[in-house]
Amino acid sequence: MERIQIFDTTLRDGEQVPGCKLETHEKVEIAKELESLGVDVIEAGFPISSPGDFLSVVEISKAVSKPVVCGLTRAKKEDIDVAAEALHHARRGRIHTGIGSSDVHIEHKFRSTREKVLEQGVSAVKYAKSKGHEVEFYAEDAGRADLDFLVKMTQEVIAAGADVVNIPDTTGYCLPNMYGKRIAYLFEHVKNIDKAIISVHCHNDLGLATANTMAGLANGARQAEVTINGIGERAGNTSLEEIAMIIKIHKDLKMETGIISERLYDLSQMVSTKMRMPVQANKAIVGKNAFAHSSGIHQDGFLKHAENYEIINPSDVGVPSSSIILTARSGRAALRHRLELLGINLEGQDINVVYEHFLQMADLKKEVDNNDLRVLVANLPLLQKP
Ligand code: KIV
Ligand code: ZN
Repeated sequence: MERIQIFDTTLRDGEQVPGCKLETHEKVEIAKELESLGVDVIEAGFPISSPGDFLSVVEISKAVSKPVVCGLTRAKKEDIDVAAEALHHARRGRIHTGIGSSDVHIEHKFRSTREKVLEQGVSAVKYAKSKGHEVEFYAEDAGRADLDFLVKMTQEVIAAGADVVNIPDTTGYCLPNMYGKRIAYLFEHVKNIDKAIISVHCHNDLGLATANTMAGLANGARQAEVTINGIGERAGNTSLEEIAMIIKIHKDLKMETGIISERLYDLSQMVSTKMRMPVQANKAIVGKNAFAHSSGIHQDGFLKHAENYEIINPSDVGVPSSSIILTARSGRAALRHRLELLGINLEGQDINVVYEHFLQMADLKKEVDNNDLRVLVANLPLLQKP
């Protein structure tokens, strides 16, 4: 089994989302829950960006003991100095420094040249390394970088002391096979690649963040950068719960993480509430509908044998149970099941009568609830045809 490191950036890339800003005490609460969830690295903030971010990195460094605590920097000495100081109390601190690697970033963001950004990246790694923390280097926009330049950059930052090299698909541009091939190419061409962990950090602009992350892992990367509920810049980052459950369900991948999956749902709710960012109902793993069955055919199949329509046991992700939603698409099996849960056992003609009136009600209402059913059953004598 290959152990995949889970690097959580909910409190950095996730918190960059407009409206998701958190107070330091809220970040500390989330960081403690991330520790209990079993993440390996917590990216706690971007210390030079504001006094609040600095304080959060300090307080998280004090509050957690198992995960590595990481602070983001640009490839600048002043950023690295501030991050190193913020991480002072961390049992294991990591400085995450880096610079653009694609020509579009080099020309239009840094107005620089490949040679100069390479030199700046290498110097930043050496300087960060001198601070006594672990060092992770990010080659920003690696998804669109010239591959041979990316090889050169990766090789040189590893030679300069980087413990981890992050290959971000910053703009969510890559297709899974493209991204996977990029990672494979690095493994084939970077001579000292065995001296560092290769990390994948994908954005979801085309809805491919999870697929790309899995492609990166399948091609040798051993760290996945993720956020709870997939929150993050623009369309978001790769979602932690999806990667953790893909790896758990597909044993044939021969990968494992340290995630205690039973804690996923509660933490998803906590992050959603604190960041005022609702989870979409059909979100994989933690959405309201992830274990809800509403069509008659599915409900009947599910009630006969849950595995007919569920590949994950809800309790494995901390959801107490699956649910059967009673709508106009529901059949008798679902109705009977719900009535039984309410302690009502109807036989023969009675169930047919209630079902007929249930359908009329369901056509008027989106969902029929327990109270509606109790009223229907109480009125059964009136509903019976003479
Ligand atoms: O998406 C990205 O490239 C990033 C880096 C700062 C790691 O978030
Ligand atoms: Zn990012």
